[in-house]
Amino acid sequence: MTATMRALVLQEDAQERLKLVERPLPTLQPGQALVKMQAAALNHRDQWCRMGMYPGLRYPSILGSDGCGVVVEVAEAAHQHWVGKTVVMNPNVNWGENPDFQSFNYSILGMPTDGTLAEYLAIGVDRLYEKPAYLTVEQAAAVPLAGLTAYRAVFAKGKVAAGKSVLVTGIGGGVAIFAFQFAQAVGAKVYVTSGSEQKLQKMMEMGATFGVNYKNQGWDKELQKKEPFGFHTIVDSAGGEGFEALAKMIGPAGTMVVYGTTAGKPSPINLPRLFFSQATITGSTMGNDQEFADMLQLMTTHQIVPLVSSVRPLAEGITAFDEMHAGQQFGKLVIRISE
Ligand SMILES: NC(=O)c1ccc[n+]([C@@H]2O[C@H](COP(=O)([O-])OP(=O)(O)OC[C@H]3O[C@@H](n4cnc5c(N)ncnc54)[C@H](OP(=O)(O)O)[C@@H]3O)[C@@H](O)[C@H]2O)c1
Repeated sequence: MTATMRALVLQEDAQERLKLVERPLPTLQPGQALVKMQAAALNHRDQWCRMGMYPGLRYPSILGSDGCGVVVEVAEAAHQHWVGKTVVMNPNVNWGENPDFQSFNYSILGMPTDGTLAEYLAIGVDRLYEKPAYLTVEQAAAVPLAGLTAYRAVFAKGKVAAGKSVLVTGIGGGVAIFAFQFAQAVGAKVYVTSGSEQKLQKMMEMGATFGVNYKNQGWDKELQKKEPFGFHTIVDSAGGEGFEALAKMIGPAGTMVVYGTTAGKPSPINLPRLFFSQATITGSTMGNDQEFADMLQLMTTHQIVPLVSSVRPLAEGITAFDEMHAGQQFGKLVIRISE
């Protein structure tokens, strides 16, 4: 093993926020394993960090919360059985004891702790899960953060079940597509929105009940025609101008789950309508460690395959950030790091 590794590092330098650099290999702390990374995947969080729009930024820092690789070394003999295993990592750091809310020293792999966009990662063995055998390395790398976020949003918060009507907005997003797949797997009727006709077409092929382009005038009316009483669950990460229209579409005693604000501040909503319909708007962030295990189990049971938008080598990793910034991806942007 060489003493250095290549890593995609976030720097304070305004001209060159991301740079592929040589770094010393991480030193293992008690309880940790050294993982030779095979693939990593981006989340919008990585792009927010690049844009300086994420709290608590630390420089220089290796980004990346998602990945898959092979354990090559462990700090303690008791963990020797991990060596040689192909693993994915739970990106939660210190969720804590309360399943409903993360602890105050909670953080996410890849900021402030060094993340997966590097040839090696030192990480606690309690974060490791064997790669689901039916997934390729690239598919497995796409799962952790987005899969976990979607799982909690859909089930713990959105109470999605067979036969329920569900609307997932901005379906091109990494989390959104998992939310679609999870809701579909349990037998819900899943509607989608997207700013891209091509993505809508693909979603119809994947079994979406109906889809509309949120850039078209009257997109909300189109959805209301299909579900005049509103949706049991709406899963949204856009916020922005369309928020009021979405809030109007929450069905009786239905729920809108919000986990992001990609399109900025939400438009004001009609509160009387909200309380008369006994509706709930609830926030959701990531998910607890039990949910991570349950999410992998659900995926395995239903053999759910993540939608990988593209795969490129680490040397071209920065172009994946550009693609995400432009919103061109459909599913997860994956970086291949080693064989
Ligand atoms: N709270 C959490 O734990 C958590 C976890 C993960 C992500 N997030 C947040 O959730 C958001 C999505 O994350 P991601 O990683 O899935 O991002 P992503 O892969 O970059 O997806 C973003 C998607 O947003 C959609 N979008 C953009 N403008 C929209 C609009 N006006 N209305 C509806 N949809 C719109 C686009 O879908 P189309 O291409 O189909 O138009 C785009 O593909 C980000 O803001 C991220 O920070 C939060």
